[in-house]
Amino acid sequence: MRAVCIVGSPREQGNTAFIVDQIGAGMREQGAEVICHALGSLSIGFCRGCRTCEQGGRCVQRDDMDRVIADLMDADVVLVASPSYWGDVTGQLKVFIDRCLPLCNAQTDTTPVPPGKVGIAVAIRAGSRKAENQHIIDTIEHYFGHLGIEPVARFTAERIDAISDFTQAHIAQARQLGRTVVSSLE
Ligand SMILES: Cc1cc2nc3c(=O)[nH]c(=O)nc-3n(C[C@H](O)[C@H](O)[C@H](O)COP(=O)(O)O)c2cc1C
Repeated sequence: MRAVCIVGSPREQGNTAFIVDQIGAGMREQGAEVICHALGSLSIGFCRGCRTCEQGGRCVQRDDMDRVIADLMDADVVLVASPSYWGDVTGQLKVFIDRCLPLCNAQTDTTPVPPGKVGIAVAIRAGSRKAENQHIIDTIEHYFGHLGIEPVARFTAERIDAISDFTQAHIAQARQLGRTVVSSLE
């Protein structure tokens, strides 16, 4: 059982990475192999909109997207996480999603992504309104939908501006979520 975690924050040791690590720890407790990609530390170019990938199935750019996509294709669980930036996903995550156009089923109704994967969407923010995190979850689940990934779990937290803002309840919830998703696939 493999999980790939795609962390949308530019802060490699930030709040999003911390809570994703907790979910990952829960998944590992159930025997999953967990790989994390922090988008902020990767070199991923903007989508150029050339749409060459719609013919050849592959982007014309060779950069770190190649290994993230390879890990995504291999994973049983795909976790995508973002902090709120101006009420939305980060620029890093939006660029990543755009670069997944070769995997999108919109034109042909098919995707090269093998079937049977499940998705976990994670959103955190400094402010208190839950609706803002819901918008981020909707964006991530829209992405899952176009790759044929079934959304099975969500984690959101508000009033998070530092790792110390996470409560023991958040941490317990995150770990349990990781355990539950993996055990439901066994
Ligand atoms: C450029 C920028 C924009 C932000 N916009 C919002 C926002 O619109 N709403 C909000 O609640 N928090 C906003 N935040 C705060 C972050 O969502 C919050 O600090 C989060 O915990 C950061 O997670 P990280 O450490 O993983 O990057 C913003 C932070 C930055 C740097």
